[in-house]
Amino acid sequence: MKVLLTGATGYIGSAVTDHLAAAGHQVVALTRGAEPQPGRAWHAQLVGDTADPASLAGTVTSEIEAVIHLAPPSGDADVDTAVIEALAAPLRGTGRPFVYTSGVWVLGATGEAQEVGEESPTNPIDIVGYRPRIERRVLAEVTEGVRAVVVRPGIVYGRGGGIPAILVDRARRQEVPEYYGEEGVRWPTVHVDDLAELFVAAVERAEAGTVWHGVGESAVPVRDLARAAGRAAGVLATPHAVPAEQAAEIFGPLFADALALDQSVSGAAARTALGWRPGRPGVLTELVSGSYRPVEVFGAPDGPETDAEVAAIRLLVAEVEYAQQNEEVDRFLGVFRREDPVWTTGHGKRLSGFEEIAAFTRKVLPGATAESTAVYDVERVLFLRPDVAAVNVRQQPVRHDGTRIADRPEGRPFYIVVKEDGTWRVGAAQNTIAVD
Ligand SMILES: NC(=O)c1ccc[n+]([C@@H]2O[C@H](COP(=O)([O-])OP(=O)(O)OC[C@H]3O[C@@H](n4cnc5c(N)ncnc54)[C@H](OP(=O)(O)O)[C@@H]3O)[C@@H](O)[C@H]2O)c1
Repeated sequence: MKVLLTGATGYIGSAVTDHLAAAGHQVVALTRGAEPQPGRAWHAQLVGDTADPASLAGTVTSEIEAVIHLAPPSGDADVDTAVIEALAAPLRGTGRPFVYTSGVWVLGATGEAQEVGEESPTNPIDIVGYRPRIERRVLAEVTEGVRAVVVRPGIVYGRGGGIPAILVDRARRQEVPEYYGEEGVRWPTVHVDDLAELFVAAVERAEAGTVWHGVGESAVPVRDLARAAGRAAGVLATPHAVPAEQAAEIFGPLFADALALDQSVSGAAARTALGWRPGRPGVLTELVSGSYRPVEVFGAPDGPETDAEVAAIRLLVAEVEYAQQNEEVDRFLGVFRREDPVWTTGHGKRLSGFEEIAAFTRKVLPGATAESTAVYDVERVLFLRPDVAAVNVRQQPVRHDGTRIADRPEGRPFYIVVKEDGTWRVGAAQNTIAVD
């Protein structure tokens, strides 16, 4: 399909562009400026400004087979109505899709209700007070023969961006992770690439007049998000609850209210009815060991294949951490290759072969984390061959609540990892205590 995409240069629009193109569609990007943007998978670029609806006239030609409207509304009712009119009217009588982007904030606080679905009435917070009206305006196009559809994303994360990037940045600057509002606040979240796949599914097969929650995880506690954002920023401290008045000074009252909004929202309908499969790592994993904490990579070309291998190596190191923190002997042993692995502990004890490593682990791991544990972050990956890499890891001692134990030295684990039968495993490992 030839798809007109507004907001194509933005955070979500960039991912939607990639996934539309990968699915074989042609993206006609509507941008405010005329400057060409090399590197984007756009078929064509048109200029238009949603603050000036007249500038949109003629952008939806008879060749356009679908419209995805991602550019944010102005908040001015007349302007926003005129924008929908300009983009949707040319599709009337064609049955072609018009997908409008709203957001879960139109549901307001979900209170006691768990995993609220699309049938739930809207109760918008002030920052999106005008949005239900735009949703209704869009859906009314169904009677005019437009396949009008609304997508309401949760808090979008991934590719190092979105609102979680603000938490990481604040944690770095303030040297303490922050969250806003009550401790019990939860956010519905969605990975930007999973969300982009939902837009593709909506364009291809959502029925006219439908609304879809783009939500991967229905209710992630903000305190956990703050802690993970702190880890991404290298700040292992107890998350600090920022009072509402202070949050309003930092972000403005409307956005501060939104950050403090407690919601539990279901994305199940899109999974069932559209076959949407949001399968990327959850927001906490993404913050701790994904795009918010870049790794230095050497010896392999830039590109999605290298990214995938680095992600798999990070998951292997996350497995080391999980197994140690939870004293799970078999899981810990599962990270090693079976043939002749070697592990030298932080105290210089060399364990040769799987049996020696297994015997030592069975002896020392149970009870090892009674007082403290450690976090492991991959810092550098050198691909020696496509299937062999040298990995530098930073190990920091922490309490069970994830806060750094200041008077205990860090470790500098170094792993040689090997990809065998499609799985990365540790072939050789050495830990060194860092004394500065
Ligand atoms: N991010 C989230 O967590 C989230 C969650 C729920 C819903 N949403 C909604 O999803 C939509 C996209 O969000 P995003 O996070 O991708 O935002 P974003 O990164 O700020 O991108 C906004 C896009 O809209 C374009 N745009 C802004 N004003 C415009 C105008 N007057 N005319 C034409 N284009 C204009 C921007 O173009 P320029 O390059 O010219 O600035 C940019 O491409 C928004 O409606 C947002 O409310 C986002």
